[in-house]
Amino acid sequence: MGLLLLVATTAGCATPLSTLDPASSSTAAIATLWWVMLGGAAAILIGVTAAFLYSFKKHRRREVPEGYFLWGGGLAFPAVVLTALMAVALPVGQALLLPDEDDVVRVEAIGNQWWWAFVHTDAPQGPVHAAVDLHIPAGRLVEVTLTSDNVIHSFWVPRVTWKLDVVPGHSNRLRLRADEPGVYEGVCAEFCGLHHAHMPFRLIAHAGDGYEAYLADAAAAAVDADHPGATDFVAECSGCHSVDPLEPSPAPHLHRLRDRRLLGGVLAYEETADLRHWLREHENLKPGTFKPIHDHIPDDQLERIIGYLESAP
Ligand code: CUA
Repeated sequence: MGLLLLVATTAGCATPLSTLDPASSSTAAIATLWWVMLGGAAAILIGVTAAFLYSFKKHRRREVPEGYFLWGGGLAFPAVVLTALMAVALPVGQALLLPDEDDVVRVEAIGNQWWWAFVHTDAPQGPVHAAVDLHIPAGRLVEVTLTSDNVIHSFWVPRVTWKLDVVPGHSNRLRLRADEPGVYEGVCAEFCGLHHAHMPFRLIAHAGDGYEAYLADAAAAAVDADHPGATDFVAECSGCHSVDPLEPSPAPHLHRLRDRRLLGGVLAYEETADLRHWLREHENLKPGTFKPIHDHIPDDQLERIIGYLESAP
């Protein structure tokens, strides 16, 4: 009954971060392994419980030899269980690796405290830089090179790929493929400090030639250079932030800021007032980041900067 209840509950687990709602062949293999392990563990639990209850039965004083427990329960049984599990798990491990292909899209993911930077290294017009949202083509192999220059993070998109650590001084490579177009939620899966839980990202898988269109747009689009806030941005922000997708940005890239769902990974971004609130209060909303306080910026100048940031097409 409990098992049925568990199956019924988990079958309804189609949340954005659910490993039981796979959207790729690798995560489907992981989900299969999970179900096999759940089934096996449930069968063993039922067997052990039955044996336990049976032992209470009256008028059964037959001695069970010690060797039965030692060799049977301690050696034969685990050997059979672990061999069976390995037989299932080995092909799963192999399925996760995704063989190399000629048609591969290469991107770089850089773990920061506490946000993700992405670089589309093989974009036709030169590397395209982005933050928080990683755009990829659906159905094609994507090789993500993972790096960090601070602490260890872990790149994880539960519905699309297994997790892989992002280690300072070392490049890890993760191959992934989203079978269907869509937006998939990603998180950092390795404790990396105060805001470990506040560096979510999105994997946005485009249909057709949507990915090429995204790269072309990124290269062509820029915020309005004639905007009255452009000089204010240069004076106050451009030392750390960039709005040009063809330029790297030591602090989160601000191109297409209006596409973001969250500011700093903590504040919902629905209207201009949210951006204003973030710029005035970020040290309270996300304390401990390297972002300097902006209190010295007068209101009118801040309004021009906000207008400039939101002017991106
Ligand atoms: Cu980055 Cu946890």
